[in-house]
Amino acid sequence: MHHKMTILAIESSCDDTSAAVLVDGIVLSNTTSSQKIHEQYGGVVPEVASRQHHIDIVPVVNHAMSLAECQFKTIDAIAFTRGPGLLGSLLVGASFAKALALALDKPLIEVHHMKAHIMAHFIDEPKPNFPFLCLTVSGGHTQIVKVNSGTKMVVLGQTIDDAAGEAFDKTGKMLGLGYPAGPEIDKRAKLGKAVFTFSESKLPGLDFSFSGFKTSVLYFLQKEKKKDSDFIDKNLNDLCASIQNAIIHMLVSKLKQAATQTGITEIAIAGGVAANSGLRTTLLTMANELSWKLYVPDIQYCTDNAGMIAMAAWFKFQEGDFSDLATSPDPRWAMDEA
Ligand code: KG4
Ligand code: ZN
Repeated sequence: MHHKMTILAIESSCDDTSAAVLVDGIVLSNTTSSQKIHEQYGGVVPEVASRQHHIDIVPVVNHAMSLAECQFKTIDAIAFTRGPGLLGSLLVGASFAKALALALDKPLIEVHHMKAHIMAHFIDEPKPNFPFLCLTVSGGHTQIVKVNSGTKMVVLGQTIDDAAGEAFDKTGKMLGLGYPAGPEIDKRAKLGKAVFTFSESKLPGLDFSFSGFKTSVLYFLQKEKKKDSDFIDKNLNDLCASIQNAIIHMLVSKLKQAATQTGITEIAIAGGVAANSGLRTTLLTMANELSWKLYVPDIQYCTDNAGMIAMAAWFKFQEGDFSDLATSPDPRWAMDEA
């Protein structure tokens, strides 16, 4: 009987403290503490996030261990998010992982957060076949990635300014919605109609831009509010539907372009914005029309979680790709250097 390989993974790149236990490629537990404290500030406050990770990391890890009925002595490797992310947040997870690796005398695996979002697709069936394209859309990133293997990935296009999640959050803020506004816009969009149009990016190639769109929403709202100060309240659901529609349109048209350019029809989406129901249904329709095989992860694996870190680490573990205790977080770690 072969010895089962157990990985404990920790994610702390932004405002979620998460831990997961993976045994032989199967995620046995995945538990997250999401920091509510930032809502009152309308965005993540890095120093506050770091301090909250300090408070949460031990109970979250213990919870993941007990859910998986796992003991520390059976762990074979400890994985953590090295970047990209907020330095103060990354430091908590990295320090914890390094201390535990030293105490248990087990190897460390450093994981790239954006690669991990993509590897979330290998937690549940059906799993995509290599090579596939992944549209990774989160609060900090918007990328189209060609995924050649569990560890080899090439960024084909990315945002030159705001991320798609930021486009949701910042325009949502203009509407008076709380942070993060993405889920609220999603909910309200279902009750409204996309009757308003905003200018969309015309960037050539596979890169994205959302700043022009953001400005166009701002000017439109200013103009309408001058005519009717209750404009936003009266049209909130329609505004949400229109904003969501425009963001989805910008995302899917680049994804379609990437599929045409590469001839790849295995298509995946990942990241927090992949939880958006409008994006999911639009892509389902497109997949039908274009004969794509579409992969959409379970919502719990779209937003930040350690299950995806564990899965990315499992691929590195099988390649014997470990790091030593001298490693330190890199807030701007590039995907092609990971
Ligand atoms: O991947 P994630 O949890 O954290 C980052 O690594 O950034 O993504 C968070 C982002 C936020 O901008 C949030 O507004 C957005 O994902 N988001 C959504 C939805 N759920 C989360 N955006 C649109 N619709 C949703 N249902
Ligand atoms: Zn993320």
